[in-house]
Amino acid sequence: MIEKEILIDYNIEIKETRIKKKCYWKKLKIESEIFMKNNKIKILTAFILIVALLLIWGTNDIVTTKYFISSERIPSDFDGYRIVQVSDLHNKEFGKNQKRLIKKIKAVNPDLIVITGDIVDRRKWGTKYMEEFLAEAKGIASIYYVSGNHEVWSFKYDKVKKILEKYNVNILDDDVKTIKHKNSEIKIAGIIDTGFEDREEYVPEILSNLKNKIKSDEYSILLSHRPEHIDDYAESGYDLVFSGHAHGGQIRIPFIGGIYAPHQGFMPKYTKGVINKKKTKMVVSRGLGNSVIPIRVLNRPEITLTVLKSEKYMN
Ligand SMILES: [Fe+2]
Repeated sequence: MIEKEILIDYNIEIKETRIKKKCYWKKLKIESEIFMKNNKIKILTAFILIVALLLIWGTNDIVTTKYFISSERIPSDFDGYRIVQVSDLHNKEFGKNQKRLIKKIKAVNPDLIVITGDIVDRRKWGTKYMEEFLAEAKGIASIYYVSGNHEVWSFKYDKVKKILEKYNVNILDDDVKTIKHKNSEIKIAGIIDTGFEDREEYVPEILSNLKNKIKSDEYSILLSHRPEHIDDYAESGYDLVFSGHAHGGQIRIPFIGGIYAPHQGFMPKYTKGVINKKKTKMVVSRGLGNSVIPIRVLNRPEITLTVLKSEKYMN
Protein backbone atom coordinates (compact mmCIF):
# COMPACT_ATOMS: atom_id res chain seq x y z
CA MET A 1 0.00 0.00 0.00
CA ILE A 2 2.79 2.36 1.03
CA GLU A 3 4.75 1.39 -2.06
CA LYS A 4 1.71 2.26 -4.27
CA GLU A 5 1.41 5.69 -2.62
CA ILE A 6 5.13 6.35 -3.14
CA LEU A 7 4.76 5.41 -6.80
CA ILE A 8 1.77 7.77 -7.25
CA ASP A 9 3.69 10.61 -5.56
CA TYR A 10 6.66 9.89 -7.80
CA ASN A 11 4.54 10.03 -10.96
CA ILE A 12 2.96 13.30 -9.84
CA GLU A 13 6.42 14.69 -9.22
CA ILE A 14 7.57 13.71 -12.73
CA LYS A 15 4.48 15.30 -14.27
CA GLU A 16 5.06 18.53 -12.30
CA THR A 17 8.72 18.63 -13.39
CA ARG A 18 7.69 18.14 -17.01
CA ILE A 19 5.13 20.95 -16.78
CA LYS A 20 7.71 23.20 -15.10
CA LYS A 21 10.22 22.43 -17.86
CA LYS A 22 7.65 23.12 -20.57
CA CYS A 23 6.76 26.44 -18.93
CA TYR A 24 10.45 27.31 -18.65
CA TRP A 25 11.15 26.70 -22.38
CA LYS A 26 7.97 28.50 -23.39
CA LYS A 27 8.99 31.48 -21.24
CA LEU A 28 12.48 31.42 -22.70
CA LYS A 29 11.07 31.29 -26.24
CA ILE A 30 8.75 34.24 -25.60
CA GLU A 31 11.56 36.23 -23.97
CA SER A 32 13.96 35.57 -26.86
CA GLU A 33 11.24 36.51 -29.37
CA ILE A 34 10.70 39.80 -27.54
CA PHE A 35 14.50 40.34 -27.39
CA MET A 36 14.87 39.66 -31.11
CA LYS A 37 11.95 41.95 -31.92
CA ASN A 38 13.31 44.82 -29.83
CA ASN A 39 16.92 44.35 -30.90
CA LYS A 40 16.57 43.28 -34.54
CA ILE A 41 18.40 46.34 -35.85
CA LYS A 42 21.16 46.02 -33.24
CA ILE A 43 21.71 42.32 -34.07
CA LEU A 44 21.73 43.01 -37.81
CA THR A 45 24.16 45.92 -37.32
CA ALA A 46 26.48 43.74 -35.20
CA PHE A 47 26.38 40.97 -37.83
CA ILE A 48 27.17 43.39 -40.68
CA LEU A 49 29.97 44.93 -38.60
CA ILE A 50 31.55 41.53 -37.86
CA VAL A 51 31.38 40.53 -41.56
CA ALA A 52 32.82 43.92 -42.62
CA LEU A 53 35.69 43.63 -40.12
CA LEU A 54 36.46 40.10 -41.32
CA LEU A 55 36.50 41.28 -44.94
CA ILE A 56 38.77 44.25 -44.13
CA TRP A 57 41.14 41.97 -42.20
CA GLY A 58 41.07 39.35 -44.94
CA THR A 59 41.89 41.95 -47.59
CA ASN A 60 44.70 43.68 -45.71
CA ASP A 61 46.49 41.18 -43.47
CA ILE A 62 49.45 39.59 -45.28
CA VAL A 63 50.24 35.91 -45.00
CA THR A 64 53.55 34.26 -46.00
CA THR A 65 53.25 30.93 -47.80
CA LYS A 66 56.36 28.76 -47.77
CA TYR A 67 57.30 26.23 -50.44
CA PHE A 68 60.28 23.92 -50.78
CA ILE A 69 61.41 23.23 -54.34
CA SER A 70 63.91 20.45 -54.71
CA SER A 71 65.86 19.34 -57.75
CA GLU A 72 69.10 17.60 -58.52
CA ARG A 73 69.66 20.41 -61.04
CA ILE A 74 69.91 23.00 -58.24
CA PRO A 75 73.62 23.58 -57.47
CA SER A 76 74.59 22.55 -53.94
CA ASP A 77 75.68 26.14 -53.24
CA PHE A 78 72.01 27.13 -53.71
CA ASP A 79 70.73 24.64 -51.15
CA GLY A 80 68.57 26.64 -48.75
CA TYR A 81 68.47 29.69 -51.10
CA ARG A 82 65.43 31.79 -50.19
CA ILE A 83 63.31 33.57 -52.80
CA VAL A 84 60.51 35.92 -51.80
CA GLN A 85 57.87 36.65 -54.42
CA VAL A 86 55.89 39.88 -54.41
CA SER A 87 53.08 39.94 -56.94
CA ASP A 88 50.14 42.13 -57.93
CA LEU A 89 50.67 44.97 -55.48
CA HIS A 90 48.22 46.99 -57.61
CA ASN A 91 49.26 50.24 -56.01
CA LYS A 92 48.10 49.10 -52.58
CA GLU A 93 49.35 50.52 -49.30
CA PHE A 94 50.28 48.27 -46.38
CA GLY A 95 50.94 50.88 -43.71
CA LYS A 96 53.21 53.93 -43.78
CA ASN A 97 56.14 53.30 -46.16
CA GLN A 98 54.70 49.80 -46.76
CA LYS A 99 55.79 48.94 -43.22
CA ARG A 100 53.68 45.79 -42.85
CA LEU A 101 54.80 44.35 -46.20
CA ILE A 102 58.47 45.11 -45.56
CA LYS A 103 58.25 43.58 -42.07
CA LYS A 104 56.90 40.33 -43.55
CA ILE A 105 59.72 40.19 -46.13
CA LYS A 106 62.45 40.97 -43.60
CA ALA A 107 61.09 38.28 -41.28
CA VAL A 108 61.97 35.51 -43.76
CA ASN A 109 65.45 36.84 -44.55
CA PRO A 110 65.44 36.32 -48.35
CA ASP A 111 68.43 36.01 -50.65
CA LEU A 112 66.39 37.27 -53.59
CA ILE A 113 63.14 39.17 -54.18
CA VAL A 114 61.17 38.58 -57.38
CA ILE A 115 58.33 40.84 -58.47
CA THR A 116 55.90 39.22 -60.89
CA GLY A 117 54.04 42.18 -62.34
CA ASP A 118 51.15 44.52 -61.66
CA ILE A 119 53.12 46.57 -59.16
CA VAL A 120 50.90 49.47 -60.27
CA ASP A 121 47.25 49.59 -61.27
CA ARG A 122 46.14 51.25 -64.49
CA ARG A 123 42.75 52.21 -63.01
CA LYS A 124 44.03 53.52 -59.65
CA TRP A 125 47.14 55.02 -61.19
CA GLY A 126 49.98 56.19 -58.95
CA THR A 127 53.58 55.24 -58.21
CA LYS A 128 53.85 56.41 -54.59
CA TYR A 129 53.23 52.99 -52.99
CA MET A 130 55.45 51.24 -55.50
CA GLU A 131 58.28 53.66 -54.70
CA GLU A 132 57.77 53.35 -50.97
CA PHE A 133 58.02 49.57 -51.29
CA LEU A 134 61.14 49.61 -53.49
CA ALA A 135 62.91 52.18 -51.31
CA GLU A 136 62.72 49.79 -48.35
CA ALA A 137 63.00 46.48 -50.23
CA LYS A 138 66.24 47.33 -52.07
CA GLY A 139 68.16 47.09 -48.79
CA ILE A 140 66.92 43.57 -48.08
CA ALA A 141 68.03 41.62 -51.18
CA SER A 142 68.56 41.91 -54.95
CA ILE A 143 65.30 42.48 -56.79
CA TYR A 144 64.26 41.02 -60.17
CA TYR A 145 61.11 42.24 -61.89
CA VAL A 146 58.85 41.36 -64.77
CA SER A 147 55.92 43.42 -66.04
CA GLY A 148 52.23 42.65 -65.67
CA ASN A 149 49.26 43.61 -67.83
CA HIS A 150 48.62 46.75 -65.77
CA GLU A 151 52.06 48.17 -66.50
CA VAL A 152 51.78 47.56 -70.24
CA TRP A 153 48.12 48.62 -70.48
CA SER A 154 48.75 51.82 -68.52
CA PHE A 155 50.85 53.21 -71.40
CA LYS A 156 53.05 54.66 -68.65
CA TYR A 157 55.45 51.73 -68.47
CA ASP A 158 58.39 54.03 -69.22
CA LYS A 159 57.64 55.92 -66.02
CA VAL A 160 57.48 52.65 -64.04
CA LYS A 161 60.78 51.50 -65.56
CA LYS A 162 62.54 54.73 -64.56
CA ILE A 163 61.47 54.20 -60.95
CA LEU A 164 62.56 50.54 -61.04
CA GLU A 165 65.96 51.58 -62.35
CA LYS A 166 66.25 54.27 -59.66
CA TYR A 167 66.07 51.49 -57.05
CA ASN A 168 68.49 49.15 -58.89
CA VAL A 169 65.79 46.64 -59.81
CA ASN A 170 66.80 44.13 -62.51
CA ILE A 171 64.14 44.39 -65.20
CA LEU A 172 63.65 41.13 -67.09
CA ASP A 173 61.92 42.33 -70.25
CA ASP A 174 62.44 39.33 -72.52
CA ASP A 175 65.85 38.98 -70.98
CA VAL A 176 68.01 36.45 -69.12
CA LYS A 177 70.35 37.25 -66.24
CA THR A 178 72.74 35.28 -64.06
CA ILE A 179 72.34 34.90 -60.32
CA LYS A 180 75.56 34.13 -58.51
CA HIS A 181 75.64 32.63 -55.05
CA LYS A 182 78.80 31.37 -53.35
CA ASN A 183 80.69 29.65 -56.18
CA SER A 184 77.71 28.71 -58.34
CA GLU A 185 75.28 30.27 -60.81
CA ILE A 186 71.71 29.82 -61.91
CA LYS A 187 69.77 31.70 -64.60
CA ILE A 188 66.69 33.87 -64.30
CA ALA A 189 64.60 34.90 -67.32
CA GLY A 190 61.54 37.08 -67.72
CA ILE A 191 58.92 37.68 -70.38
CA ILE A 192 57.09 40.99 -70.87
CA ASP A 193 53.38 40.59 -70.23
CA THR A 194 51.67 39.01 -73.19
CA GLY A 195 48.95 41.66 -73.37
CA PHE A 196 51.43 44.01 -74.97
CA GLU A 197 51.04 44.44 -78.72
CA ASP A 198 49.13 41.18 -79.03
CA ARG A 199 52.16 39.08 -78.24
CA GLU A 200 50.02 36.15 -77.13
CA GLU A 201 50.73 34.03 -80.21
CA TYR A 202 54.50 34.60 -79.93
CA VAL A 203 54.80 33.40 -76.33
CA PRO A 204 56.25 29.94 -77.18
CA GLU A 205 58.77 31.51 -79.56
CA ILE A 206 59.88 34.20 -77.07
CA LEU A 207 60.18 31.61 -74.29
CA SER A 208 62.30 29.22 -76.31
CA ASN A 209 64.50 32.06 -77.60
CA LEU A 210 65.20 33.01 -74.00
CA LYS A 211 65.73 29.40 -72.97
CA ASN A 212 68.25 28.95 -75.77
CA LYS A 213 70.43 31.51 -73.98
CA ILE A 214 70.59 29.16 -70.98
CA LYS A 215 72.88 26.11 -70.97
CA SER A 216 71.02 22.81 -70.66
CA ASP A 217 72.75 21.93 -67.37
CA GLU A 218 71.94 25.30 -65.76
CA TYR A 219 68.99 25.61 -63.37
CA SER A 220 66.51 28.06 -64.90
CA ILE A 221 63.93 30.33 -63.29
CA LEU A 222 61.30 32.18 -65.31
CA LEU A 223 59.30 35.19 -64.15
CA SER A 224 56.03 35.53 -66.03
CA HIS A 225 52.97 37.37 -64.84
CA ARG A 226 50.35 34.98 -66.22
CA PRO A 227 49.98 31.40 -64.97
CA GLU A 228 47.64 30.28 -67.77
CA HIS A 229 50.60 29.82 -70.13
CA ILE A 230 51.93 26.93 -68.06
CA ASP A 231 51.93 24.57 -71.07
CA ASP A 232 54.31 26.92 -72.90
CA TYR A 233 56.56 27.29 -69.83
CA ALA A 234 56.78 23.50 -69.46
CA GLU A 235 57.30 22.98 -73.17
CA SER A 236 60.25 25.40 -73.12
CA GLY A 237 61.77 23.40 -70.27
CA TYR A 238 62.11 25.98 -67.48
CA ASP A 239 62.75 24.42 -64.08
CA LEU A 240 60.88 26.91 -61.92
CA VAL A 241 58.33 29.59 -62.82
CA PHE A 242 56.96 32.40 -60.66
CA SER A 243 53.63 33.91 -61.71
CA GLY A 244 50.66 35.77 -60.25
CA HIS A 245 47.84 37.64 -61.99
CA ALA A 246 45.00 35.39 -60.76
CA HIS A 247 44.59 37.11 -57.37
CA GLY A 248 43.84 33.71 -55.87
CA GLY A 249 40.53 33.68 -57.68
CA GLN A 250 39.48 36.75 -55.59
CA ILE A 251 36.79 34.89 -53.63
CA ARG A 252 37.73 31.42 -52.41
CA ILE A 253 35.25 28.74 -51.43
CA PRO A 254 36.55 25.93 -49.20
CA PHE A 255 37.13 22.64 -51.09
CA ILE A 256 36.25 24.36 -54.39
CA GLY A 257 38.85 27.11 -54.81
CA GLY A 258 38.87 30.51 -56.49
CA ILE A 259 35.80 31.87 -58.23
CA TYR A 260 37.23 34.13 -60.91
CA ALA A 261 40.61 35.10 -62.36
CA PRO A 262 41.42 37.47 -65.23
CA HIS A 263 42.05 35.64 -68.52
CA GLN A 264 41.05 32.32 -66.95
CA GLY A 265 37.41 33.25 -66.28
CA PHE A 266 35.14 31.54 -63.76
CA MET A 267 36.40 28.55 -61.76
CA PRO A 268 40.02 29.18 -62.79
CA LYS A 269 42.54 26.36 -62.74
CA TYR A 270 45.69 28.20 -61.69
CA THR A 271 45.15 30.49 -58.72
CA LYS A 272 47.65 29.50 -56.01
CA GLY A 273 50.21 26.97 -54.86
CA VAL A 274 52.78 24.94 -56.77
CA ILE A 275 51.66 23.43 -60.06
CA ASN A 276 53.67 20.66 -61.76
CA LYS A 277 53.75 20.24 -65.50
CA LYS A 278 56.27 17.94 -67.11
CA LYS A 279 59.56 18.86 -65.37
CA THR A 280 58.43 22.43 -64.65
CA LYS A 281 57.23 23.63 -61.26
CA MET A 282 55.17 26.83 -61.21
CA VAL A 283 54.60 28.89 -58.05
CA VAL A 284 51.42 30.93 -58.35
CA SER A 285 51.10 33.78 -55.88
CA ARG A 286 47.67 34.96 -54.78
CA GLY A 287 49.19 38.45 -54.82
CA LEU A 288 48.74 41.40 -52.52
CA GLY A 289 46.36 43.91 -54.05
CA ASN A 290 43.16 44.08 -56.01
CA SER A 291 41.99 45.68 -59.20
CA VAL A 292 38.31 45.69 -60.22
CA ILE A 293 36.92 43.94 -57.12
CA PRO A 294 38.25 45.73 -54.02
CA ILE A 295 37.78 42.90 -51.53
CA ARG A 296 39.07 39.38 -51.00
CA VAL A 297 37.14 36.56 -49.36
CA LEU A 298 38.99 33.69 -47.62
CA ASN A 299 41.95 34.77 -49.71
CA ARG A 300 44.35 36.90 -47.68
CA PRO A 301 47.06 38.96 -49.44
CA GLU A 302 50.12 36.77 -49.86
CA ILE A 303 53.86 36.81 -50.32
CA THR A 304 55.49 33.50 -51.13
CA LEU A 305 58.79 32.21 -49.80
CA THR A 306 60.39 29.51 -51.94
CA VAL A 307 63.33 27.66 -50.47
CA LEU A 308 65.50 25.80 -52.99
CA LYS A 309 66.70 22.36 -51.96
CA SER A 310 69.59 20.83 -53.85
CA GLU A 311 69.25 17.09 -54.23
CA LYS A 312 72.90 17.07 -55.28
CA TYR A 313 73.73 18.24 -51.78
CA MET A 314 71.44 15.63 -50.19
CA ASN A 315 73.13 12.84 -52.08
FE1 LIG B 1 47.55 40.98 -63.84
